[in-house]
Amino acid sequence: MNIQTFPSYDDMSLHAAQIIANVVRTKPDAVLGLATGSTPIGTYRHLVRMHKEGTLDFSRVTTVNLDEYIGLPDTHEQSYRRFMEEHLFQHVNLDPARTFLPDGMAEDPVAEGARYDELIRRLGGTDIQLLGIGYDGHIGFNEPGDVFVKATHPVDLDPSTIQANARFFASEAEVPRRAITMGMGAIMGAHRVLLLASGQGKKAVFDASANGPIVPQVPASILQLHPDVTMMFAEG
Ligand code: GLP
Repeated sequence: MNIQTFPSYDDMSLHAAQIIANVVRTKPDAVLGLATGSTPIGTYRHLVRMHKEGTLDFSRVTTVNLDEYIGLPDTHEQSYRRFMEEHLFQHVNLDPARTFLPDGMAEDPVAEGARYDELIRRLGGTDIQLLGIGYDGHIGFNEPGDVFVKATHPVDLDPSTIQANARFFASEAEVPRRAITMGMGAIMGAHRVLLLASGQGKKAVFDASANGPIVPQVPASILQLHPDVTMMFAEG
């Protein structure tokens, strides 16, 4: 595991974007595993800048996102589809037909999880998976629990996650209680993993994930078993 510390959020974001850009430049039809949350926004900003400067072409790239809220249509301003449109998709030359997220409106979320895993399998897995981390150690929406769940699956969000994400909604009551998340199988199946964390509030969970026991109570700790992980921490 490669652990890197940066003095600022923008330094970390630039380095993360350079890693992803190099994946795309080396393999123009790369499959990028993408993440939402506030942490990757700076990385997306640098990727958009590189595209606008003419040094990064997304025309043959495929993207698969980690997760989506259950019950929010794509058009909802807090849906993760909408987040990705706003922060990346609409600013670069990705083919919209090759940008995938789990369908949070699917009638059967378990079947939707199986469909999503099959899609990722057919794509050959992701070349790089970008991750943020929750204060409770969740990656995607894999919340702390008694087991690591392999498949893409529906989850009940932890009260602490609902509270943390309430800042994006008008009130805590409006935060969806459930989501569909990529499971540990697809995350660990990525050829390369890049986890980003920013700010002192994430320091303890970052250290526990990088160096602590590998336990499902700290979901990100499973990454210690991956052969090619970079974990980046921004001090401020
Ligand atoms: C959300 C997302 C995660 C993200 C996490 C942290 O719940 N599902 O993918 O990593 O929260 O978000 P932030 O980066 O805003 O702290």
